[in-house]
Amino acid sequence: MARPVSRRQFTRLFAAGGSAALFAHPAWIRAAAPPLPPDGPAAGEAFWKNVREQFVMPPDLGVMNAANLCPASSRVIEALTRETASVDRDPSPQNRARLTGAKEATRASLADFLRVSPDEIVITRNTSESNNLISNALDLKAGDEVVIFSDNHPSNHQAWTAKAKRFGYSVAVVEHQNPHPGPDYYVDAFAKAMTARTKVVAFTHLSNTVGDLFPAAEICRRARERGVLSVLDGAQSFGLLDVDLRAIDPDFYSGSAHKWPCGARECGVLFINQRAHERVWPPSYSAYPGAVGISKTVEGFGQRDEATMIAFAEALKFQSEIGRAAIEKRSRALAQQLMAGVSKLDGVKMWTSTSPERSAAVVSFLPAALDTRKLAAALYENDRLAVATRGGSDRSGLRVSPHFYNSPEEIDRLVTALAGYLKSGV
Ligand SMILES: Cc1ncc(COP(=O)(O)O)c(C=O)c1O
Repeated sequence: MARPVSRRQFTRLFAAGGSAALFAHPAWIRAAAPPLPPDGPAAGEAFWKNVREQFVMPPDLGVMNAANLCPASSRVIEALTRETASVDRDPSPQNRARLTGAKEATRASLADFLRVSPDEIVITRNTSESNNLISNALDLKAGDEVVIFSDNHPSNHQAWTAKAKRFGYSVAVVEHQNPHPGPDYYVDAFAKAMTARTKVVAFTHLSNTVGDLFPAAEICRRARERGVLSVLDGAQSFGLLDVDLRAIDPDFYSGSAHKWPCGARECGVLFINQRAHERVWPPSYSAYPGAVGISKTVEGFGQRDEATMIAFAEALKFQSEIGRAAIEKRSRALAQQLMAGVSKLDGVKMWTSTSPERSAAVVSFLPAALDTRKLAAALYENDRLAVATRGGSDRSGLRVSPHFYNSPEEIDRLVTALAGYLKSGV
């Protein structure tokens, strides 16, 4: 039996050698993952404190950057290290066969999580690969048109504009509006942008720039009615919102394990709706594709790292045990607390809407005239708070994306620290 490691021992371990010391001490990993209390989120802060203790981040570090990278929980790290060691201890065909089975179990978990069928799931490396797989896989030519959103991530924006040059189709862009003018505005804007030539509409569920939330089901419905394929980038909604793809009904949906799901890095998902299977050309051919549905043709990526996939399934299980609706509610509440606090500070310009139908838990704002790089550095060094910066002249500032492992106390700490820097500079 592994002996539990106390918080003090953990701090010492961390100081002694960071992750190397941690991995040399699997006792901590196990000790940090007690079962979740049976009364669940109804227990309030006590429950969320227990959830936080299942992550190896030091207790004093408040990382609010889920839109970029989330930590994996102890049980995900444990699954990853256990299965990685298993392959190296026993790289036999028999053990590989077991891992191939585990890959299909991950596919089933993903399907369950997104409320679709395993036949419609492709396991990729990340959202970038999923998005590019679609723009590589569809047969588009001169005369066709793709409608995209101006704030799409490069993997769903530049990918289309660059490939348009190669294949001869054209791209029309629906421009973002700030402040978010409401779901109806965007439903209309996308509907108007579609013409008889439009073959694809590619947009983002929750934008990574200023956290604009989109009426995904309605935009997908409008596209479907016109025979247009819908591509929904879910990098910022997968693992944050309680996503039901049957209800939203896009043709394609993409996501990464290492963002809001808190899975291991280098694993992602692409949902391909059954009705779009015939439209997709395989992006590559190799041995070891998936075993069911579209993965048999589209997942020809050769040998894979199944340990990462098993860890991904563990992350989904963890979220499901906590409760996906509870996770969404928690992250949204922390974002609301943040927006309420920051909006009261002199000189702050909020880019993100506080309306729950226009935002979720990605919050961007301009902290008056403060140098945002210096501010983020000061927050990290002086206050042990990690947030992202947005440079350039377009809605620049700080981006804060709290998740279920954050606490109201960390949000208060951030608002208080910001108030101090706004008063006395950085
Ligand atoms: C909306 C959106 N799409 C795609 C990506 C790319 O994700 P990844 O780097 O995991 O491929 C990101 C990353 O931040 C994103 O925010």
